[in-house]
Amino acid sequence: MTDRAEVDTVSYQVIDGIAWVKFNRPEKRNCMSPKLNRQMLRVLNELEFRDDVGVLVLSGEGSAWSAGMDLKEYFRDTEALGLKGTRHAQREAYTWWERLRWYQKVTIAMVNGWCFGGGYGPLYSCDLAFCSDDAQFGLSEINWGILPGGGATKVAVELMPMRQAMYHALLGENLTGPEAAAAGLVNESVPADQLHGRVSEIAQKLLAKNWETLKATKDAVRRVGEMTYTNAEDYLIRAQEALNFHDKSDGRHKGMKQFLDDKTFRPGLSTYDKNRD
Ligand code: ACO
Repeated sequence: MTDRAEVDTVSYQVIDGIAWVKFNRPEKRNCMSPKLNRQMLRVLNELEFRDDVGVLVLSGEGSAWSAGMDLKEYFRDTEALGLKGTRHAQREAYTWWERLRWYQKVTIAMVNGWCFGGGYGPLYSCDLAFCSDDAQFGLSEINWGILPGGGATKVAVELMPMRQAMYHALLGENLTGPEAAAAGLVNESVPADQLHGRVSEIAQKLLAKNWETLKATKDAVRRVGEMTYTNAEDYLIRAQEALNFHDKSDGRHKGMKQFLDDKTFRPGLSTYDKNRD
């Protein structure tokens, strides 16, 4: 096929509160080219504050989630432009991964196939990750003569115990879906024909919750990891107080009232009803 237009490198649909976003270069196993990186940032920007989007799911068209960076368009072609070309391409990729790490809505990686190298950037950026049993995960950088850059080494070390991360990076062998789940790269691996259903189920549970509270909570989980205990205590007090200000629905008072006064739910067993007082 002729080269795909930039606008067609990412597809999305919003259905019942869920934005289903896809890497859309199946003929290139969804490897990330500068065009795709630019388009993905546009799509993320378009969806982030929409009232009809509560959860964003990132998956891939065809047999891959993402085969990592595009060796031709991201590496070879940009290197030909000198350092300026390389740095520019890196910024375009890292920018959307960072946007996704701190996204306003909860994000779920739905890994439907190959996930290599640079793909670990967006994998880590997503708050939750589910994969199909036949997905394959690899730091293949070692197999073609580079180290796992673009954050991939950091992702392996953040998500896996050190010995496993080292083996994964040095050997360049792939992990199956269940192996990736056991290693901590994803939350769960399920049979391919159940992946969409399982992710929809998780998304529905998230949609029932207060998105301001979800945003504060996901940021807290990412931030406190590198804080001392005392700093984390302080940060969490301030984050809650900021949430009290931002949450115009006053969720915590609704939650308290529904439990303590109305006795319509128990927080230990379910979530409060955000649609009633
Ligand atoms: N960069 C550039 N082109 C790619 C990439 C990539 N990362 N991955 C796949 N393609 C292209 C292939 O060159 C091929 O193009 P062509 O049709 O013009 O020849 C097309 O996508 C289909 O790829 P195949 O290899 O034919 O597909 P297959 O299903 O047999 O294999 C697999 C899939 C295993 C993903 C294989 O394509 C592969 O090994 N890709 C590279 C994976 C990788 O190491 N990525 C880089 C990680 S390191 C980093 O991201 C920094």
